[in-house]
Amino acid sequence: MKTQRVLTGITTSGTPHLGNYVGAIRPTVRASRLAEVESFYFLADYHALIKVGEPARVQRSTLEIAATWLACGLDPERVTFYRQSDIPEIPELTWLLTCVTGKGVLNRAHAYKASVDKNTAAGEDPDAGVTAGLFMYPVLMAADILMFNAHQVPVGRDQIQHIEMARDMAASFNHLYGEHFTLPEAAIEDHVATLPGLDGRKMSKSYDNTIPLFVPREQLRKLIMGILTDSRAPGEPKSTEGSALFQLYQAFASAEETAALAKAYAEGIAWGDAKQMLFERLDHEIAPLREVYDRLIQDPAQIEKTLQAGAQKARAIATPFTARLRDAVGLRRLDSAVATTTKAARSAAPAFKQYRESDGLFYFKLVDAGGQLLLQSTGFASGKDAAQAIARLQRQGSQALAGLRDQLTTQGDAAALDQALAHFAADKG
Ligand code: TRP
Repeated sequence: MKTQRVLTGITTSGTPHLGNYVGAIRPTVRASRLAEVESFYFLADYHALIKVGEPARVQRSTLEIAATWLACGLDPERVTFYRQSDIPEIPELTWLLTCVTGKGVLNRAHAYKASVDKNTAAGEDPDAGVTAGLFMYPVLMAADILMFNAHQVPVGRDQIQHIEMARDMAASFNHLYGEHFTLPEAAIEDHVATLPGLDGRKMSKSYDNTIPLFVPREQLRKLIMGILTDSRAPGEPKSTEGSALFQLYQAFASAEETAALAKAYAEGIAWGDAKQMLFERLDHEIAPLREVYDRLIQDPAQIEKTLQAGAQKARAIATPFTARLRDAVGLRRLDSAVATTTKAARSAAPAFKQYRESDGLFYFKLVDAGGQLLLQSTGFASGKDAAQAIARLQRQGSQALAGLRDQLTTQGDAAALDQALAHFAADKG
């Protein structure tokens, strides 16, 4: 099985809240510990500029979010943890994707459409106050994802449409220029619905109803006591349906604990007591993380160092991949061979070519979408042996290379070879 790549980002426009924790940070950190995954986590600070015009807030938020992920158990040795703006290849890829994205598709993006609908309802110009940055948001996000060929993208439900758009952009690009991108999928933690905020609406920075993840214990208690409930008195049975308090509890508690609270609701638990239960349950999970967070936030230089190391790791992938994409779209040096077979090269995918030489032996080679040689075999005694080696490469991808070392010479750069081999493995699902 091919290693799954998991990638997610958080916009650095505020202070991490429980919704971010439950919807993205916690599931992703958990997944990063599995043997079969390779994780990419990043601070989406280019995205922050869409909403935030305050430089100090962007910087502060970047620090807080970095400290949060590290405190929540992210191991920067094991995963690739970086800041989006340290990877200049991402805005470059954004442009390449922009050019294969229908404007009409972006017109339908929820965030943009919401602004337009609001303006229209207010009798304003539909695009009043809408920046092109907001309009382009899904393309930047697609570049984040496609740059690292992520398979799984853990996000909140509100982001599913963006992942679908990224898939469409990947497919359009692949169709035009050959198989370069993996089609990503949204990974949603099934039993966690969107977390409600203090007022019962979705917990969101834009509703100003969030519970920050790492407020001091006493402040956490105060915030929880302020969660909106109905006016049912102690002793009156309460409905779990539509209860923000209940949904918050459920996101942190086991199935048994949740069932116990449901029973208490039916038996008429007082709201104050239910809130106390939620507070205890939350603090039980958060307190140990908060301790690490408080320590980290005092040492920004250390966090900066961690991010720089992460950027280096990320760019080890992004730089050669971008070179390959530039070549694929025709942003090429003039002293390299000028392709005349544009049409054929465009729709081509990497391919194995098997043939027999005059020495009677059987050979194969692997060429990329543009016809460049990536692998060359030595002679095999039979066609069957050559075919078996090909099948192994198609099945195992780059992992097969070591075992076939004596029968292969590689040409070109390793990233391009990885990419081409990944293509075959991806085809097999
Ligand atoms: N748009 C995401 C959010 O607001 C953040 C984000 C930016 C992201 N780029 C991403 C998430 C890529 C996943 C993958 O939550």
